[in-house]
Amino acid sequence: MGNTCYATEWQVICIYFFLAVLHVSLGDFRYSVPEETKNRYIIGSLTHDFNLDFKLLRARRARVDYQGSRRYCDIHLDTGDFIVLERMDREKLCGQTSPCLIHFEFILESPLELHNIALEIQDINDNAPSFPKDVIKLEISETAPKGSRFQIAGARDPDVGVNSVKTYILRPNKHFGLDIHTSNERGKYGEIVLKSTLDREKEREHSLLLTAVDGGDPPRSGTVIINIVVLDSNDNAPVFLNALYKVSILENSLPGTFVAKVSATDKDEGANGEINYDFNHVSESTKQLFDIDSKSGEIKVIGKIDFEESASYEIEIQAEDGGGQAGHCRVLVQITDVNDNIPAIIVKSISNPIPENLPPGTEIAIINVMDQDSGENSKVTCTMSPNLPFKLQTSIRNYFTLVTEAGLDREEYSEYNVTVTATDGGSPSLSSSKILHLIIADINDNPPTFDQQSYSAYVTENNVPGSSISSVTARDPDWKQNGTVTYALLPSEVNGISVASIFSINRDSGVIHAVRSFDYEQLRSFKVHVVAKDNGSPQLSSNVTVSVFITDQNDNSPQILYPAQSGNSFMTEMVPKAAQAGSLVSKVIAVDADSGQNAWLSYQIVKSTDPGLFTIGVHSGEIRTQRDVSQSDIMKQNLIVLVKDNGQRSHSSTCTVNFVISDDYSDYTSEMKDHAARSENMSNTTAYLVIALAVVTFLFLVFITLILVVKVCRRGKPGLLFDGAVAIPSAHFPPNYAEVEGSGTLRHSYIYDTFLTTGSRTSDFKFVSSYDSTMPRDSTLKKEQKVSNEAGKTIGQEEDMSCEKSAEMQSDRSS
Ligand SMILES: *[C@@H]1O[C@H](CO)[C@@H](O)[C@H](O)[C@H]1NC(C)=O
Ligand SMILES: *[C@@H]1O[C@H](CO)[C@@H](O)[C@H](O)[C@H]1NC(C)=O
Ligand SMILES: *[C@@H]1O[C@H](CO)[C@@H](O)[C@H](O)[C@H]1NC(C)=O
Repeated sequence: MGNTCYATEWQVICIYFFLAVLHVSLGDFRYSVPEETKNRYIIGSLTHDFNLDFKLLRARRARVDYQGSRRYCDIHLDTGDFIVLERMDREKLCGQTSPCLIHFEFILESPLELHNIALEIQDINDNAPSFPKDVIKLEISETAPKGSRFQIAGARDPDVGVNSVKTYILRPNKHFGLDIHTSNERGKYGEIVLKSTLDREKEREHSLLLTAVDGGDPPRSGTVIINIVVLDSNDNAPVFLNALYKVSILENSLPGTFVAKVSATDKDEGANGEINYDFNHVSESTKQLFDIDSKSGEIKVIGKIDFEESASYEIEIQAEDGGGQAGHCRVLVQITDVNDNIPAIIVKSISNPIPENLPPGTEIAIINVMDQDSGENSKVTCTMSPNLPFKLQTSIRNYFTLVTEAGLDREEYSEYNVTVTATDGGSPSLSSSKILHLIIADINDNPPTFDQQSYSAYVTENNVPGSSISSVTARDPDWKQNGTVTYALLPSEVNGISVASIFSINRDSGVIHAVRSFDYEQLRSFKVHVVAKDNGSPQLSSNVTVSVFITDQNDNSPQILYPAQSGNSFMTEMVPKAAQAGSLVSKVIAVDADSGQNAWLSYQIVKSTDPGLFTIGVHSGEIRTQRDVSQSDIMKQNLIVLVKDNGQRSHSSTCTVNFVISDDYSDYTSEMKDHAARSENMSNTTAYLVIALAVVTFLFLVFITLILVVKVCRRGKPGLLFDGAVAIPSAHFPPNYAEVEGSGTLRHSYIYDTFLTTGSRTSDFKFVSSYDSTMPRDSTLKKEQKVSNEAGKTIGQEEDMSCEKSAEMQSDRSS
């Protein structure tokens, strides 16, 4: 190429220079040489081409000049050849300019001769195409659509023409194809075309080999490796390893207890693959129990797990990646029951207090036991304290009934503390207990019982009316009024008299009082029946017999039955003159209404006409001669015999026994008449005394009655006569106890033998027949005695007369 002139000043110079060049370069010559030729390579013959004689070359100092530091070519002075001095690289000298011409000046001196030589350096395919980099990194999103194109920087080949890049070849692969373009600016380049979509998750990188081939012969090539990195897009949702996790934990697991670890994977990468775990659609209450670590997926307990609240929890867990895609799984947490609930005892119903007469098997209480645990932990057994008259029966599930097992007796145990214990089947088992305080209510089931089977009371006769004679006590263990005892006499009669008029009993204390005075001689013993009643309803009672024994007092003087001592009746015994010593001449017969010692009589002679003649048996009363009766003895003899009982304050009676010592009966009769005359006066005197006594007694009774009437009227309550412990019946006296002939009826509470003269001359004495009824039959004499006191008869055949027994005696006396 020639010089290029631009500015106007330079234009003149350029034109000049151009003309000058034009002048000297008439004989321009053009050579060509392939590049990269060896040294001394002959390009052409200058001498030949310029018609020179090569012998003159030296002389003319021929040379080839190259503008530049280098020479590249020169003239061989010996041959005149245009030779290569050093290796020439077309690509270096001309680059991509084609044709590549470098210009030399062929200078000859003397004369100066200047020729221009243009040397075309011909390209040889000495360069292979090359890519800017050996490895191209290309990032393609996995979501890139089919047909997407990616330009690849073209390869360069310094060679020109056919030796430059002719085409590209892509090593076959399934995702990419190649499209080759040619542009003026960029020459040939390739584009990678996506043939099928990429999936990072399948293949994250692809390596392509692109070869650029030039058109030389042989062709040269250069390659580049295209590394394609598939860029992730969040096209994958996290996926859990399991859709359902089943775990079980113990209830009461402490906060922090590991429950489960869920794990999800996301094939995406980076943020798209970063998973955060969280609960999804979980109730607030569950959220308070469990927590999930958002990074690790570890589920832990944070609250109080109570099996009884919920036996299982279903937790839905969501795993979300950074791109918002989410996967789900469920965790089923089953709670294993722990025996943490004490069984509860609930008394559903109870009858309390319970009557003591409940038959065995009666239901008393219904007990419900509950355990909130489950399974074995909730199987509750119920027991109760042993040795009680109750038992627990299982009824329906978890219901127990407390029933009576044995009979109850309030009097033995009035209350029970029944401890009911409920134990569950857990291990260790839990238990609770409850005390049922059962009170036994009273039933009037105990009659009053007397302290003794029977009572005996001893009363001395002539007691003061109103004095207490005995007391009975009955006890009733029942409660309150069921055990309150009152006493009463059972109505009965003693000798036709109601006991109520003889005794009274204190209703509350059981003390028995005698209402009247007793006479042993009339009534020795009897029985009263006392009933003790409680106040219950129905009322129970029991009765006891109180045997009242009246003890004797020495209140009766011995009564001399024979010989009769009445005024007008006198008796005389005849003693034969021939009576020898020791013969029984008479017998004093006396009785004493008392008994025992008090009726044990002894006889003694206190006075006698002839003290030596008669003697009396101390106990028999038999009068015997002490010696033989002699003719000298006085005919009329009498003895005063003292009959004495053996009581403490002994009573005595005397009698006179008259004897006539004679063998002649007429003596005896005259003696009798004497006696009769004397007793006439005596009889009259007795009658007067009896009348006087009757009058006094009658007045006394009227007086007593008046006093009582006045008292009763003041109180205003007529019934109160029986009020209090002792009541003396005012107008109730036993019916006729003693009759006194000829002097009306004498009522008197004393009952004893009346032995009175009747006023008749012929009847000396009489036994009152009322003895008959007052004396118990069995206590009379075993044999009836008949005392015959007929004149001229000796009494002496009697059986021994018991001192203790009173005899019913009847004596007919005929004078
Ligand atoms: C029952 O328990 C009560 C109160 O704990 C006590 O006062 C009572 O004496 C007990 N009764 C028996 C029979 O143990
Ligand atoms: C007495 O017994 C009766 C039944 O026999 C009973 O109904 C009553 O409650 C008892 N009284 C008391 C005070 O316990
Ligand atoms: C007295 O008691 C007996 C048995 O102890 C009984 O047979 C009798 O009927 C009772 N008498 C009365 C009047 O209660």
